[in-house]
Amino acid sequence: MLQFYVILVILAIYLYFKWHLSFFVRRGIAGPKPLPFVGNLWDYVSYRKHFGQIYDQMYQSYPNANYVGFYKLNQPAVLVRDLDIVKDVVAGDFSSFHDNDIVLDPKLDPLFILDPFFSRGDQWKALRNLLSPTFSYAKVKAYFPLMEEVCKNLVEWIENGPESKSADGIETKSIGEMYTVDVVASCGFGVEGKSFTNIESPFRKLIGEIISPTASNIIKFFVTLFMPKIAPILGIPFLSKDHDAWVRSFVDEVIKRRIERGEKRQDFLQAFMDLQKKKENAAYAKDLLPAMAITFLTEGTETSSSLICFALYELSKNPDVVRRAQEELKEVFG
Ligand code: HEM
Repeated sequence: MLQFYVILVILAIYLYFKWHLSFFVRRGIAGPKPLPFVGNLWDYVSYRKHFGQIYDQMYQSYPNANYVGFYKLNQPAVLVRDLDIVKDVVAGDFSSFHDNDIVLDPKLDPLFILDPFFSRGDQWKALRNLLSPTFSYAKVKAYFPLMEEVCKNLVEWIENGPESKSADGIETKSIGEMYTVDVVASCGFGVEGKSFTNIESPFRKLIGEIISPTASNIIKFFVTLFMPKIAPILGIPFLSKDHDAWVRSFVDEVIKRRIERGEKRQDFLQAFMDLQKKKENAAYAKDLLPAMAITFLTEGTETSSSLICFALYELSKNPDVVRRAQEELKEVFG
């Protein structure tokens, strides 16, 4: 009898997957063949490829398709190829597509839930409106002298730092990180990041702990990105309690110092301190400043430092492009 039930359960699972995984075939939509449970992400789950590489491969494999049907684990999803459809998604029909595919639990992630990257619906719109003016042309231009100061430290490091005479050359990812962390610390909060003088820079340590591919971070990213409904059940926050506490106490300290000294600086923190005082922002008051601090620290550093690293690598391989870039810089900056 037991055997009969086991066979029945196996048959039911088989029929479920056969039906579920034929979603796109039934609709005549092209796409790679999925596997049960992992869909088309086996190479990602087995740690062989980044999901960006998997999506790129799908994009290249269907040159005539407007979109490709695939499975994010067990969930049917669409990779859009046609530029007119892309335009509809990001512009024409944006009101139906403004949410990112990541769902955080406000109780587990009270800070990241206020990061526009993670927030959804009306809250995203409100936060986005709050954030946009701090990136106006005039505001960003005002940060230029602060960035120039960090550039001087960068040049000094390249010319005379510990790696300047190393036969292995200079680690470009790490100089990208030092530069971006110090720019964000200075333009964001008016403090010195000290990455070029202090290898133990607390900002770099924080970013490293949040994004480096440790086993616990890999599980956290995977669950948040691909199994968002499971994260609250497992009680996994995207930002750990220790990091949450560090950011809050850092922001409190900077504000306290500013109030004690009667300082008012032209930086992001000041802009958010002013916004926080407004009645209409009362809903976010308690968490707004540390939330924006962690938003800037995470989104503003790793992104740009990776870009700097790749750009320097490509430049090192293409000396003629370096010469053209130098000429353009001379033309613009004199
Ligand atoms: C080369 C550098 C950068 C790259 C490649 C990059 C990439 C991205 C991408 C792909 C998104 C997602 C857009 C979407 O949701 O559709 C995003 C959003 C965001 N980024 Fe960046 N970023 C960079 C630099 C920065 C910097 C310097 C900051 C802040 C100082 C920043 C702050 C943000 C914020 C707040 C969002 C959320 C915006 C929203 O959803 O409304 N990013 N970025």
